[in-house]
Amino acid sequence: MTSTNPNPSSRFESAPYIPPDRIFELTAQYLSDPASPKVNLGQGTYCDSNGQPWILPAVAAARDRLAATGLNHEYLPILGHPVFRTLAPRLALGSALHATLSSQIATCQALSGTGSLHLAGVLLRYLQSQTSPTSPLPKVYIPTPTWSNHHQIFTSLGFEVATLPYYSATTRSLALEPYLATLAAAEPNSVVILHACAHNPSGCDPSLAEWRQIAQTVKDRHLFPLFDAAYLGFNSGDLDQDAAAIRLFAGEEFGLEIGVCMSFAKNMGLYGERTGCFFLTTHQETTARNTESVLEVLQRREVSNPPAYGAKIAALILGDEGLTEIWKEDLRTMSGRIREMRERLVEGLVQFGAPGDWEHLVRQTGMFGFLGLDEEVVKELREEDHIYMADNSRVSIAGLNPGNVEYVAKAIAERLRKRNA
Ligand SMILES: Cc1ncc(COP(=O)(O)O)c(C=O)c1O
Repeated sequence: MTSTNPNPSSRFESAPYIPPDRIFELTAQYLSDPASPKVNLGQGTYCDSNGQPWILPAVAAARDRLAATGLNHEYLPILGHPVFRTLAPRLALGSALHATLSSQIATCQALSGTGSLHLAGVLLRYLQSQTSPTSPLPKVYIPTPTWSNHHQIFTSLGFEVATLPYYSATTRSLALEPYLATLAAAEPNSVVILHACAHNPSGCDPSLAEWRQIAQTVKDRHLFPLFDAAYLGFNSGDLDQDAAAIRLFAGEEFGLEIGVCMSFAKNMGLYGERTGCFFLTTHQETTARNTESVLEVLQRREVSNPPAYGAKIAALILGDEGLTEIWKEDLRTMSGRIREMRERLVEGLVQFGAPGDWEHLVRQTGMFGFLGLDEEVVKELREEDHIYMADNSRVSIAGLNPGNVEYVAKAIAERLRKRNA
């Protein structure tokens, strides 16, 4: 008879405990908090005036159409939904540039923004293994600060990540000089991660003139610009304005080969559908076709084929004039409310006597901003006022609405006044 050891040794014993992702943990804490009022300024999701998830009217209409026309659940092709794969790059490049470059574009649908960045890394690693298997992978320059996932996406693939100074806490704006100086000293063929707009978390974007300087440096140093485009249209409410940097780099003036990692999580509210697209502009049709064939193999190995539902919704919206117009209005609604909330938050902070200068919150754009509070205040706000934000006081402005902005401003002002008393 064999005895059963109640505690047999495990092949998984070496697994260390890794604390959960702080932002997702914060959301879980917020959801289980029975208090009212409570406010979640942690995770970057746009909510309605009652703090509930907002289904964009364009998305609701597309869903109805899909349901009416007989939605099926078949596999998509490995490279993704064909219409979506055409219309997503067209959205980023604009119709004219897209038409000019069309045969030189390689595209693959991917798992939202995160999956697109990962696929870009997998492609770069694969190409390096083919051309110079003994050389180290190119360095990836990532702005400081940046979205929390950038580092681990690239380090997990074996890339060395280099720091690119981006934000000055003193001037609360883009630190252009050290940024350009670092790029100018980067090894040729290094990869540069560029937030196409709505820099997360600083909310500071380069002006078009500054983008030109960046593009020139990237070109002079033979760097590879990889755009993280998670907020097109969401930032300013205007898709063309938000895609301006992408078009500048790929267009006639600079003619650069670029990579673009698109997410439809924020701008269509398709957070959980994992709807994204990775595309490259190349200098030759053959290069594009060959690269796309590589992407197809890599995608097959990684996920076999991408999820269908979100891509079907996005393709319908992007391919139908009426739905596109509704979507553009949705983008104006979201970006307009975020701008209004920035103003109301600053007004409230001033009105309730919060010490300090808050004007940078209005100057910054996009979903996020830094309040500049110390961790103790952040903790008090969470535990006593039920206002949840990242420990470094980065706030998602999208979590504010007309019903809670005054409450938040008052709570912050009171906590800061007490500290200063
Ligand atoms: C800068 C940036 N890039 C990419 C993403 C990726 O998001 P997702 O994978 O949900 O599309 C986010 C999400 O917050 C982001 O802020």
